[in-house]
Parts: sequence; structure tokens; C-alpha cells
Amino acid sequence: LSPVLTIDGPSGAGKGTVSRIVARKLGWHYLDSGALYRAVGVAASWADIDTSDASALVRCTFDTKVQFAEQGESLRVLVNGTDATDELRLETTGALASAIAAIPEVRAALKERQRAFRVLPGLVADGRDMGTVIFPDAPFKVFLTASAEERAQRRHKQLKEKGVSVNFDDLLREIMARDARDAQRAVAPLRPAEDAVLIDTSGIGIDDVVAKVLGLVSV
Ligand code: CDP
Repeated sequence: LSPVLTIDGPSGAGKGTVSRIVARKLGWHYLDSGALYRAVGVAASWADIDTSDASALVRCTFDTKVQFAEQGESLRVLVNGTDATDELRLETTGALASAIAAIPEVRAALKERQRAFRVLPGLVADGRDMGTVIFPDAPFKVFLTASAEERAQRRHKQLKEKGVSVNFDDLLREIMARDARDAQRAVAPLRPAEDAVLIDTSGIGIDDVVAKVLGLVSV
């Protein structure tokens, strides 16, 4: 079985950036599991499916085709053949993904698709339940945290760089609401695996976090 490094944590803890760099340094594959939930959210909105219609959302999960394509430095995500990378990153899509992710059948439907990414030489899996549910036997597990304020600040900066202007207090409120929903849902609630190494990234630069994570992986 090929090795897996799971990197879980709340929104804005730096999982995406850290996972991508670590995967590149190790020469391993990268799974952005959040993108799968986001892709289902986007496909559901394209199909005008109501977020309260759980059975339609489950059907949509089975029907949605998601492809990841490297394009130079950036990773493009195709949803049913259409490049949806920018729409995927919207805060509204994140909120939609979080609502969809609370449906147990949706999570079950995505389980095997996520496990299929575990191929040689190794996988860095980024998400909320990588170490607890999807790859419980992973030899390397990390849980990244940071204060809600710091995570909101990072997201604010990211959005500003993209030319999107949002109110900081609104963003902080949204992040806290999403955290609460992710932590309180009945299936796969956000929590560190018992054998995960906790890293608080508040006030720590990306390079230091990457070094810490790489220090845990022995190959
Ligand atoms: O980038 P950010 O951390 O804000 O979000 P994401 O990782 O793209 O995930 C979006 C939403 O999908 C989260 O708020 C979770 O509700 C859900 N999710 C999940 O339930 N399980 C995962 N493995 C990944 C994401």
C-alpha cells in the first residue's frame, strides 16, 4: 500500500498551500478533498438543485464528474468537463460545500473516489476527515489549526489579492459559522485523529510549517 500523509484542519489553517508544497517536495500525488465537495456544490447550483433536497444532492454527487488538471503552477478543476476553478474558490461555494458535506450519503458516495488517489509513490490528502475516516491507517497525520481571526485574515488577504473585496467581520462570521457546522455535524465531524500531530500555524510562516510537516515524514 502506498504511503499517505493526511493534513486535516479548519478553513484557512493553511492546509491547501502547505499540502501542495509538501506534495511537490515529496513528489507525491495531491488530493484536495474539499474540491470534491465544492464541485458537487457547483454542479448542484448549475442544475438548480435546492440545498434542502438531499436525495437530489446525493444523485448529483454520483453524477458529477471531477477532473484535476495541472496547468503549469496552477491546478485546474473541471466539473463535468467545464473549468470551474474560479467558481470553486468562492466563499458561497465553500458554504454550499459545507452544507452538502453534512449529508451522510454524499460523504459515503465520495469515499471510494478519494481512496482511489492512494497510488505510488505516495499521497498528500488535504481535508477534514482524511486521517479519521478516509485514510485511518495513514502512517503520517497532521492537524493544522490557527485562531479564527488569523484564518479570516489570511482568507481576507487571499481574496483581496484576487481583487475580491469582502468585509472582514462578515468573513470572520462566515468562517466561524462554517467551523461550527463542520465540527458539530453527525458524520465525520471535524476533529483531529487520535494519532495526528497538531500544529498551530498562528504567527508561523508557510516555510516553517512545511519544514515541520516534512520532518514528520520518513520515506
Ligand atoms: O478551503 P477551505 O478549507 O475553506 O474549504 P475546503 O477544504 O475546500 O472544504 C469546503 C467544505 O467542504 C468544508 O467546509 C467542509 O464542510 C467540506 N469538507 C468536508 O466535509 N470533508 C472534507 N474532507 C473536505 C471538505
